[in-house]
Amino acid sequence: MKTSENRIETDFLIIGSGIAGLSFALKIADFFKDSNITIITKGEKNESNTKYAQGGIASVWNKTVDSFEQHVQDTLIAGDDLCDENIVRMVIKNAPKRLKELINWGVQFDKENNNYLLGREGGHSQDRILHHKDITGFEIERALIAKVEKQKNIQFLTHHYAIDLITEHQVNKKKTHRKDRITCFGAYVLDEKQKIVKTFSAKVTMLATGGNGQVYNVTTNPIVATGDGIGMAYRAKAEISEVEFIQFHPTALYNPGEYPAFLISEAVRGEGAILRDYYGNKFMHKYDPREELASRDIVARAIDNELKKSGTPHVYLDCTHIPYNRFQKHFPNITEKCLSLGIDIRKDYIPVSPAQHYICGGVNINKKAKTSIKNLYACGEVTRSGLHGANRLASNSLLEGIVFAHNAFKNLTKRYHKIKTPNNIPLWNDSGVVKNMEKVLITHDRNEVKTIMSNYVGIVRSNERLLRAERRLKVLYEDNKRLYDHSELSVDVCELRNLITTAYLITQFSKKRKENRGGFYSADLVNNNH
Ligand code: FAD
Ligand code: SIN
Repeated sequence: MKTSENRIETDFLIIGSGIAGLSFALKIADFFKDSNITIITKGEKNESNTKYAQGGIASVWNKTVDSFEQHVQDTLIAGDDLCDENIVRMVIKNAPKRLKELINWGVQFDKENNNYLLGREGGHSQDRILHHKDITGFEIERALIAKVEKQKNIQFLTHHYAIDLITEHQVNKKKTHRKDRITCFGAYVLDEKQKIVKTFSAKVTMLATGGNGQVYNVTTNPIVATGDGIGMAYRAKAEISEVEFIQFHPTALYNPGEYPAFLISEAVRGEGAILRDYYGNKFMHKYDPREELASRDIVARAIDNELKKSGTPHVYLDCTHIPYNRFQKHFPNITEKCLSLGIDIRKDYIPVSPAQHYICGGVNINKKAKTSIKNLYACGEVTRSGLHGANRLASNSLLEGIVFAHNAFKNLTKRYHKIKTPNNIPLWNDSGVVKNMEKVLITHDRNEVKTIMSNYVGIVRSNERLLRAERRLKVLYEDNKRLYDHSELSVDVCELRNLITTAYLITQFSKKRKENRGGFYSADLVNNNH
């Protein structure tokens, strides 16, 4: 790795190109026409959790049957009393406006007779999910990227990996503490193709790095979801919370060896699909009166319980009674995927089991998307905004991304002119690095993190399991420190550092939680359910 002379000054540095990062970029580019905006992303332009979103975006659309109040109540119930109600009300009230903006930017949601088709998912009391077939996220990425590419003041850099945020810690060599008023001045970024570390100084940095599903063996999240944002924010001493609330999606396609796990959208249950155990019996009535449409935490735990009781590897989703034309029209991608595996949904049940899907907590932000670090904003899955509480309501995540991107933008229209261009930012320094570590050690450690988290910090946890995870992660943490210092800087080694940090934080926060609530469940707290 060459020590870089590459210093880049930008007004806005946006890390991540999912719905959160791209929608923020578009707003900023349009308003601050004379500013320069840089989006960096670690993979291809559209590679993100957003790209894989299936079900759609929740918003009250048909006010004759639905209301903001019903959407608010559904969100609060799913969040198991841990949501910030003011935030929930703000997000839900703003949803229709933000969706109209997406539509104006070119996102095409499905319509029939000129009316938007509204789907339903677990935990929703009304049909209110706008969607584009079963590839809503792919459509959103397509439209937003096309729009971003037309903006002259946006520079969009792929295969640029953010390593660390720049704060006083690097600039003044000052030791910073979590309680200090810390300022962000940009980020150090690895340009993978040129193999140099660029120093991006920015007036405003937006962290929109998404989730961390890769800490688990079975996840619906793509390979880029390695918790980098949480890792970077944690090292920069930002406040982080509620990361113990990991959401497991009840119905990922059971297809061992396929990574990431292919999702069978909850909207399929919204269309009437029924869960059956390995032997064909219905079981959801034993767990919740809403049966298949209970919130995700409840359905995932019910399936987990059925699997543990029977010792079978999966349950089934029965769609055989749903009119095929209707199913195929709404879910062409799922139909095709099933057919490719010889599953004909007209007569075959789909084998499914739970998979890690979403992290409800993250970097703390306020209503304006400000983190505890000055000039560092964050939005989307990387954050803890107060919207989701202990369990996210289906299809509220894409919504969260666009609402907080908008709020960050609004806040910056008032304060951007006061932000000074940072100076004195030191270039990245990798002198003293000895490059003698075998790469295979990174792979081994990455697999170990996944196994530890899947075995000990999964759907059902316990004190003993958490202790085991903690002990093993501490060893990995120490090993990784040596690996990081002694091997050539690469995305793999940086990702491993973030995976370990995120896994460790999830475990620590889990140890501190003393009641079962939403997506958090410990076998030792059965008498202490919220
Ligand atoms: P992402 O879309 O994940 O984008 C993060 C970006 O940051 C990526 O571009 C990534 O490459 C980049 N990045 C990460 N680290 C770095 C780094 N160090 N340097 C540079 N770039 C970096 N939610 C819904 O509301 N409705 C749905 O129907 C739905 N379906 C889903 C289906 C699947 C299979 C999955 C996985 C998720 C689904 N979700 C859904 C959740 C939702 O898609 C995500 O929570 C949401 O898209 C997150 O958006 P984001 O912009 O915050 O992050
Ligand atoms: C799905 O389509 O089931 C995923 C929806 C979500 O994660 O919100």
